[in-house]
Amino acid sequence: MTSFNLSSLLRPELKEMTPYDVPRLNDAIRLDANENPFPFPGEVLEKIKTQVHEYLFTRYPDPRSHELVAMLADFTGVPPAGIMVGNGSDEVILTLLLTFASGGRVIITPPTFSMYKVHSLIAGAVPVEVPRRNDFTIDASRINEAAAHPGSRIIFICSPNNPTGNAVPVEDIRRVLEETAALTVVDEAYIEFGGESCVPLLDEYPNLVILRTFSKAFGMAGLRVGYLLSNPAVVRQLLRVKQPYNLNVFSQLAARVVLYYRAEFLTVVKKIIQGRQILSEGLSNIPGVEVFPSAANFIFFRTPVPASILHQGLLEEGVLIRDVSGQGVERGLRVTVGQSEENEIFLTKLKLALTKREG
Ligand SMILES: Cc1ncc(COP(=O)(O)O)c(C=O)c1O
Repeated sequence: MTSFNLSSLLRPELKEMTPYDVPRLNDAIRLDANENPFPFPGEVLEKIKTQVHEYLFTRYPDPRSHELVAMLADFTGVPPAGIMVGNGSDEVILTLLLTFASGGRVIITPPTFSMYKVHSLIAGAVPVEVPRRNDFTIDASRINEAAAHPGSRIIFICSPNNPTGNAVPVEDIRRVLEETAALTVVDEAYIEFGGESCVPLLDEYPNLVILRTFSKAFGMAGLRVGYLLSNPAVVRQLLRVKQPYNLNVFSQLAARVVLYYRAEFLTVVKKIIQGRQILSEGLSNIPGVEVFPSAANFIFFRTPVPASILHQGLLEEGVLIRDVSGQGVERGLRVTVGQSEENEIFLTKLKLALTKREG
């Protein structure tokens, strides 16, 4: 028998990648994943339950999620033909890359959401980094220079940006769009919490793509629903690649009910924005902590202590946040805005961890 060597079969660009995983700590205060910290509204849950019938389980879902797309059209003002839903916006990112970027170049603007790079590698595209400036603003001319190289297919711009929290002014995005022929993807996962949406630009720029999600403001991270807004020509190409039944029946149903009750969620968003202000002030009052302004539901901050040590120290105290340190974000940590008691416990434990370290 010939010898079987699995690693010689593995695509070389995947060898350095580590499988995605996160700590499962159910009894910790979890401020690490930018989820909505408030309980899912009981009334909305009841409404979903009343619509769950046996036939939902035995039949395949609607591959195009027509009813949900119609509601999203109403919500966003974008015609249904320019909308595609996915199994979280993560899946939509991968579908975009598989459709347009395999074998090409993808411009990303770190520090930013890690999946643009990971999914570029999975799709067989080359990620090209155009770092943000020290204040985390994007450099439109450098992005356009990089995108002018042959083979450039997609530019990813996250606004508000994960993990730094700042929103990109629409004028900066317009400067990119004016000069590039690459698809320009603006990830608006956190737009309900702040920043200016690029939706009004969709009519002007056929290469603009906007990503949104139900995982943050709409409290549905567990059900995996994201969507894309663009022009119908882009959506038609993506549909060649999209998995036929990417969004299951239950998630389609839940997203429809959530959209119907969106006013309730947008009230919770207001509470989160107030919480962000209080948390930000609390962080600023701790000596040595540098806090950055946020238009999202999380706050990026730095301390004099290595982020991994602080992250671990907080974890030992039952508080989970995210160590996002790396190039351009040295000693950087990201904390999701939680419920007010969670925010208070986090601040107390952070002070304790910093004092321990100094003492
Ligand atoms: C900027 C950004 N885009 C997309 C996602 C993924 O969202 P989803 O849960 O819809 O896959 C996240 C999740 O953290 C994010 O921060």
